[in-house]
Amino acid sequence: MKKYFLLIAACLFGLTACDNAAQQEQEQETTYPNEVIETIMTRRSVRQYNDEPIPHEVMDKILECGIHAPNGMNAQRWEVRVVESQKWIKDATEAYKNSVPADSPMAKQFEDPNFKNMFRNATNVIFISHRPGPCTQLDCGLMAGNMVNAAKSLGVSSVIMMGPIGFFSTEAGKPFLDALALSEGQELLICIGMGYSDEKPETPERKYSKVKYVQ
Ligand SMILES: Cc1cc2nc3c(=O)[nH]c(=O)nc-3n(C[C@H](O)[C@H](O)[C@H](O)COP(=O)(O)O)c2cc1C
Repeated sequence: MKKYFLLIAACLFGLTACDNAAQQEQEQETTYPNEVIETIMTRRSVRQYNDEPIPHEVMDKILECGIHAPNGMNAQRWEVRVVESQKWIKDATEAYKNSVPADSPMAKQFEDPNFKNMFRNATNVIFISHRPGPCTQLDCGLMAGNMVNAAKSLGVSSVIMMGPIGFFSTEAGKPFLDALALSEGQELLICIGMGYSDEKPETPERKYSKVKYVQ
């Protein structure tokens, strides 16, 4: 009896090992049905960038893809600002650093030797604002989605962020918000850091169990 148990255990172990090896091989060799799906599946949020600027013609295409996102009633209650000024990014980061209490958990990030700026070290920052309405947050999210996937398809990495947004409604953040020159009634909602990647992030786990067919 014990002999059979050991045999079954050995077989099961063998099968699991094969499964893992096959899965790893499959991950390495994944082929996608087309380039759009490959872009969507391989895009990752990047938080380390080199200093190479994004050429204007590349950024223009990314922005164009953004404004072609579906949006409620095609009302386009959004505005977009692209910050290229390294001085603006540096000064905003300095003001932000000064506004964070030294004992706050937020101050931990400044100790990271790789910390370059408050936008996850990106070289360019796209700000998306909205004139709040029933679907405008969704509209801006879809716009951001188009932008990050378009960027990925052009070799540009990105990270969508809400974390830095609160700073711009503080006294210290006001001059930087003013410099964005948004129209009356527009409120900052989201920003996207972009640039050329200096890291290769892992794919964070996705929970396939969240999706169910109803038949
Ligand atoms: C609405 C939204 C807000 C986010 N805010 C931040 C943020 O403030 N800082 C950050 O580092 N990442 C932020 N992210 C990136 C997520 O952490 C990231 O998308 C998620 O971990 C999945 O990883 P992936 O983008 O590599 O697939 C945000 C993403 C979204 C969609």
